[in-house]
Amino acid sequence: MKTIRIGLIGTGIIAHQHVANYRKIPGVELVAACDLDRSKLETFCDQYSIPVRTTDYRQLLERDDLDAVDVCLHNNLHAPISNAVMAAGKNCYCEKPMAGSYKDAVAMKKAAEHFGVKLHIQLNMMYGPQVNAAKKLVERNRLGKLYHARSYGYRRRGRPYVDGYAEKEFNASYWAGHGALYDMGVYHISQLLYLMDTPPVKRISGSIYQELAMDEGRRKTSGFDVEELGVGLVHFEDDLTLDILESWAIHGGPFPMSSLHGSEGGLQFTESPAGPKGPGKQVLRYFSEIEGYPAESLLDVSAEAYRQSKIDPNHGYYQDSQAHWIGVLRGAIEPIDTPKIALQTMLISEGIFLSEQLKREITADEIPELSQSIAVRQQETDFGTLDYPPYPFY
Ligand SMILES: NC(=O)c1ccc[n+]([C@@H]2O[C@H](COP(=O)([O-])OP(=O)(O)OC[C@H]3O[C@@H](n4cnc5c(N)ncnc54)[C@H](O)[C@@H]3O)[C@@H](O)[C@H]2O)c1
Repeated sequence: MKTIRIGLIGTGIIAHQHVANYRKIPGVELVAACDLDRSKLETFCDQYSIPVRTTDYRQLLERDDLDAVDVCLHNNLHAPISNAVMAAGKNCYCEKPMAGSYKDAVAMKKAAEHFGVKLHIQLNMMYGPQVNAAKKLVERNRLGKLYHARSYGYRRRGRPYVDGYAEKEFNASYWAGHGALYDMGVYHISQLLYLMDTPPVKRISGSIYQELAMDEGRRKTSGFDVEELGVGLVHFEDDLTLDILESWAIHGGPFPMSSLHGSEGGLQFTESPAGPKGPGKQVLRYFSEIEGYPAESLLDVSAEAYRQSKIDPNHGYYQDSQAHWIGVLRGAIEPIDTPKIALQTMLISEGIFLSEQLKREITADEIPELSQSIAVRQQETDFGTLDYPPYPFY
């Protein structure tokens, strides 16, 4: 088995999760890490025994011993630094959302094609037993003709930083671009796009809100100017629709989880409850009709990963995003086309933001014209100014 050598850029909150995931995959070596914050970098590298440390990502990119570079930075740095990673000839794994705007995300996809490297976007809700089972049901026509999907995500009061968890950059459009739709919405939307085989979008309408009070001190520190609630309606080709409801904070009870509906059946995701010895029973709800009677089955997918791992040696590469990426880097599996799905997800989010701005429905054709780059172009650091070139950057 080929050892895969990884370099990480950004050693903040999510980078810890990435390391935990890499450590579960045999044959992955964490070689180098970078963060502008020297003390955070040193603590991180000491904790995970990462030998090479630098505050300047350009030094990390000069190394010739990396199979891939993992970008764990604020959203509006995804495009500039992922582009630099790919321009250096390195395979790139980037956190979600793909970028801060559709235009920035397009530049990333073009960079991967131009430099002939692999690009993978962390959209972790396309993996694991429930999604694998859902994909199987769709592919084997258990749902019949698909006509509607619901992308739902709920937090009662969970705005990053102002309500507790995470850093202040999550809430400032300068760094993050947008809020709930980018933080959680992209997972739910991309999951359904994956199941529906990324159908072409025709038109989008939507709205975004920030209405609930918050701690004013924290609002000021973070410069909170993003949405806490996003809603949308997407029309695809072939009379397929998707409604979106994504909340960081709302005065309201839990929304149902995402679902997909067809002429012959429907499916709905469920929470995976924690049990005393790890995750509890994982169940996918499947709706159909038996002899004219509405029927609901609970598909127990808990043991699927274990059972399939005995049959298919590559099955583990479909259990989470990073495992998938390592499988792709080893050449063991064909990649799920995450840049394509992530870009379509960006198109939908951008359609909602533009619809809010222009107070009307937006056609898919308008979005590439209207979308603007909002990527960070310059960053002041202890070692000077980092400049990120405008597009086209090559
Ligand atoms: N926090 C989460 O739970 C979570 C979950 C899923 C995905 N994400 C995604 O992960 C990304 C990062 O989020 P986070 O919560 O880890 O943020 P964070 O603020 O904790 O970490 C970002 C790090 O990037 C560093 N940094 C900024 N500019 C840099 C540069 N030019 N070179 C090197 N380092 C630089 C910062 O010093 C900071 O340590 C975001 O895109 C977010 O959407 C976060």
